[in-house]
Amino acid sequence: PYPLYAELRETPVAAQEDGSYVVSTYREIADLLHNPHLSSDVRNLSHPMPTHEGDATPAFINLDPPEHDRLRRMAMRHFGPPHTPGLVAGAEGDLTAIVGTLIDGFAGKEQIDIVDDFAYPFPVSVICHLLGVPREDEPRFHLWVEALVDSIDYNPETDPKEKLENGLQARKDLRRYLGGLLEKRHGRPGDDLLTRMANDDGPDGRMTDEEIVSTANLLLIAGHETTVNLITNGMLTLLRHPQVLRRLREEPDLVVPLVEELLRYEPPVHIIPWRAAYSDITVGDTVIPKGSQIMLMLASGSRDPNRFHEPDRFDPDRRDIQHLGFGSGIHLCFGGPLARLETQIALTALVRHLDGPRLVTDPPPYRRSPILRGPVHLLVEQQA
Ligand code: HEM
Repeated sequence: PYPLYAELRETPVAAQEDGSYVVSTYREIADLLHNPHLSSDVRNLSHPMPTHEGDATPAFINLDPPEHDRLRRMAMRHFGPPHTPGLVAGAEGDLTAIVGTLIDGFAGKEQIDIVDDFAYPFPVSVICHLLGVPREDEPRFHLWVEALVDSIDYNPETDPKEKLENGLQARKDLRRYLGGLLEKRHGRPGDDLLTRMANDDGPDGRMTDEEIVSTANLLLIAGHETTVNLITNGMLTLLRHPQVLRRLREEPDLVVPLVEELLRYEPPVHIIPWRAAYSDITVGDTVIPKGSQIMLMLASGSRDPNRFHEPDRFDPDRRDIQHLGFGSGIHLCFGGPLARLETQIALTALVRHLDGPRLVTDPPPYRRSPILRGPVHLLVEQQA
């Protein structure tokens, strides 16, 4: 039930010793996410993340309007519903095939690690497929993404410098690789995301190669670990609620509201740590001074009893969810439709194919990050 969040909510907007602010209640978080005086531009932060170094052009998640809006619009044109009938709409069959191959790999295993054997490789394969990365390059791609994701929660006080260096190197290699791929896509027909972005003359003009590579990179970073964690948190929650698991087997359509409730109850992103105040901002009876860094505790907001009835109960029949799992406002998750589809297909297939699954350790070991929450491994045994 996250007692720390309940404690934080006693002071909805709390000033910290280092001058930053922590916001932990639903209404205040939602209001701030829609406040135009809040900046996402990392160049305005007093405490930037080490992994933000080395980006010539910040990706649009780290930019403010008008640059943010232009880049997001240009990428969104191709990506998919609800905005356009794009790539994602047509990808369902391919996603199901990728899941099928991963599940075939479970054969003969006494224990299955839902993370390593399934949730980790799945989103990378999907994004490779959507971007148009040739199949023979996928293993290299997986390695880069692994190094990159591993460095996201780099802590200079406890981690070897190598972890950050590997991440930054992977970021460079990945950019170079994507740049090379892009060169071959100019002026060619094709339905993949890189080709579409390279050849599109939409109302905002053509994206530069630098912008395309930065966008492709962003989709990988923002869309990988988050999706891994949603699938893994989902399986863990189902194994802890066997009656819901059984219901899902019998009523496959339940997966749609179930994934929404999951995004509220066990969201992959617990904190948005990188907002800065452009001017003095009044929230309730607190004034956040201009220039302060603001941390938005999304997961605490999604467990706020003033917004959700019995928030610590997992209830896929809950109505009026409006969780904060994908954020809100102009930076609302761009990959929401894809992440939903991936997780719905993944959970449906796991529940259908695993025979009497049981957790080997509960609780499982967790990643250390306070920002992204999910198990490092989730071992499951099937009926003998
Ligand atoms: C933004 C969560 C999957 C791409 C965000 C934000 C959250 C989030 C909370 C808001 C960040 C902010 O306001 O600063 C998640 C979760 C996911 C997921 C929980 C999986 C369950 C994906 C996927 C993709 C993606 C699959 C793409 C392939 C993005 C992008 C942004 C974003 C590009 C930035 C949008 C903008 O700045 O306009 N995501 N995400 N995400 N997400 Fe996701």
